[in-house]
Amino acid sequence: MFSLALLASLLLTCHRADALNNSVQKLPRLGYNTWNAFACNINSSVVLGQAQIMKTSGLLDAGYTAVHLDDCYANLNRTDGKIVANATKFPDGMKNFTNSIKALGFETGIYSDSGWLTCGGYPGSFNNEATDVETFAEWGFEYLKYDNCYIPFDSVTRQNELGRYQRMAEAIAAYAKKTKTLPISLALCEWGWQQVQLWGKTVAQSWRVDDDIEPFWSSIASIINQASFIAPQSDFYGHNDLDMLQVGNTVNGGNLTIEEARSHFTAWALLKSPLLIGTDLKTIGKDYLNILLNKEIIAINQDPVVGASITPFRWGINPDLVSNSSHPAQYWSGQTQTGVVFMLLNTLDTPAPLSFNLTESWAIRAGRQYHVRDLWAHTDNGTAVRNLTVTVPGHGVAALLLTDAGDEPASAGLENECAVWSQCSTHNGTRLDIPA
Ligand code: GAL
Repeated sequence: MFSLALLASLLLTCHRADALNNSVQKLPRLGYNTWNAFACNINSSVVLGQAQIMKTSGLLDAGYTAVHLDDCYANLNRTDGKIVANATKFPDGMKNFTNSIKALGFETGIYSDSGWLTCGGYPGSFNNEATDVETFAEWGFEYLKYDNCYIPFDSVTRQNELGRYQRMAEAIAAYAKKTKTLPISLALCEWGWQQVQLWGKTVAQSWRVDDDIEPFWSSIASIINQASFIAPQSDFYGHNDLDMLQVGNTVNGGNLTIEEARSHFTAWALLKSPLLIGTDLKTIGKDYLNILLNKEIIAINQDPVVGASITPFRWGINPDLVSNSSHPAQYWSGQTQTGVVFMLLNTLDTPAPLSFNLTESWAIRAGRQYHVRDLWAHTDNGTAVRNLTVTVPGHGVAALLLTDAGDEPASAGLENECAVWSQCSTHNGTRLDIPA
């Protein structure tokens, strides 16, 4: 006998048959990655220092439960065919390093490459996939970011990109089977070219959708534009990875304003991207830290019932469905376990009113009214009937959660309204879109 709960969980796990479900990483991964703040200047005390701050600042409690090493942790050459951790950077060895990270309460992640070398010139895993999976697992890592530099000639691979990533996915699966352990979570870093979102989900739990992010509004807007066309590819067990969070980062002279950082964080979270902090937490300002700690936004990213991303229902300044990296889609919505979430982006430099009819979103029920919750102000803002207008600062965002508040009031005089006028008719066939 099927219980309803079992049936519901089967439906949820099965509804994306094209996603790789090997029981790991149902939800987007939340944590820290070393690259954007430290590049190759990493060592165990730098990373442990960041992990400590994750804990004391409340980030761990807020759900950022992983700490990932990126490139440059290894010796330049393999020894006896194996990748070796650099003893100057990790004097106690990698196993002790991951033990220390785990003792603080975190999961761990590491980095390699599907070519001969990593992008920083360290050993890549091509042709050494099985050996390296074993090394990474023995070191204690549960997650692997897998890059795309220094790729072998076609005469060597006789494969496309998918083939090189498949080799690692297969090595991970084989190791898990042999050791009866959970597979390492695989994160593709392929910069989003060649339709990676279509094949990425057959081998991995996440796939990058664009080039490296930078702490400038132009970079944020451009990634949101790219993501607007592929947002539906994210769901449980497979996520568009919009790249690391630049909230409060000052590398290369960049810095997002608070409004820009809020837009960045809202978009990444609601599009169900992994949320990997790429900032030096020793220098992050309190205002920026508070953005990363927005629990109402994180809860939507980590929704255990709805895996789908928000999607645009109207582009706004830019015509619908047209790519524009300065003016990406502005009006977005999606379902959550508690209501319908709206993200309204102001891509202009100055404040602007953003208005929409509620039923422009597929997730809204016509003829109903909705309680409005502001997910940044953390206030309840009354009830919306039919439409909403919000004034949003330049490069800023409004994130609103609408929950059903029953039939709209008759006093509003809204009888005979239609969410969709075309074909809307009285019972005897008088059409509202055709004048009598
Ligand atoms: C890039 C990647 C970055 C970082 C870097 C390391 O290809 O996009 O996120 O991992 O390589 O060298």
